[in-house]
Amino acid sequence: MTRLRRHRSLTDNQQSRDIHPQELLRAGDWHQHFGKSGDIWLEVGTGKDTHLIERSILNPDDLHVGLELTRKKFEMMLRKADSLTQGLPNATDNLRFMNADAFQAVDACFKNASLSGAFILFPDPWPKKRHKARRLLQKSFLQLITTKLAPDAVFEIRTDDPDYAVQAKAALSEISELRSLTGSIDWIHEPLDPTNHVETLFESKFKKRGLKIHHFYLSRIPDDSP
Ligand SMILES: C[S@@+](CC[C@H](N)C(=O)[O-])C[C@H]1O[C@@H](n2cnc3c(N)ncnc32)[C@H](O)[C@@H]1O
Repeated sequence: MTRLRRHRSLTDNQQSRDIHPQELLRAGDWHQHFGKSGDIWLEVGTGKDTHLIERSILNPDDLHVGLELTRKKFEMMLRKADSLTQGLPNATDNLRFMNADAFQAVDACFKNASLSGAFILFPDPWPKKRHKARRLLQKSFLQLITTKLAPDAVFEIRTDDPDYAVQAKAALSEISELRSLTGSIDWIHEPLDPTNHVETLFESKFKKRGLKIHHFYLSRIPDDSP
C-alpha cells in the first residue's frame, strides 16, 4: 500500500489517532494496537463526518476505526476527533483513523470474523459506467466486508441515491452469509432505532433537500446457523 504523506500542521495529539496500515500490520491486530480488548467497529468512508467520533464517545468500551481515502478529509477527522474529545470526563483511547483505500485496507488490516459492526454511510454513487469499479456498494466489496464480520455482527448502509440503493439491494441479496434485520433484504426509509441513530453530515444535507434516505440493516449469519 502506498505510504501517504503526513501533514506537518497536525499536533501530536491530533496525530495520535492516525494509524498507517503498516503500523497495524506490525502490531499484529487491533487489540494489540489499542493495547486492550473490545468490540471492533469499522466505518468506511468517514468523509468529514463525526458519526464515528460520536459513537466512540457514546461507547467507550468499543474500539472504532474509520477509513478515509482523501488525505484532506482524513486530517480534518483527526482535528475534529481531538477537539470533540478534549476535556470529556469519559474520553478513552478507542478511536483511530486510517488514510487508505478501503478496497485494499479492509482486506489487509482486518482479520476474518473480527468486526462487531461495520458502517458504509452515504458512499459516493459513482454513476458513470467508467467509474463502476470505485463503487463500494458492489458485491465483491460487500462480500469482503461480510467476511470480516463476526457472527451476528451488524452491517449498516445508508444512501440517498435510489439507483444505488437498488444496486446495493441486488448485491446484498447475493451474499448468503447476510440476513436482514428488517425482514427481507431491503431498505427502510427511517432509522431502525431512532434513539441510537447518529445522523451524518450528508444525511442532514440530503434530508434538508427532502430526499428519502435508504437504510439497510444487516447481520452476519453464524456459520452453524441452520
Ligand atoms: C459522500 S462522502 C460521505 C461521508 C460521510 N460518511 C457522511 O455520510 O457524511 C463519501 C466518502 O467516502 C470516501 N471514499 C470513497 N471511496 C473510498 C475508498 N475506496 N476508501 C475509503 N474511503 C472512500 C470519500 O473520500 C468520501 O469522503
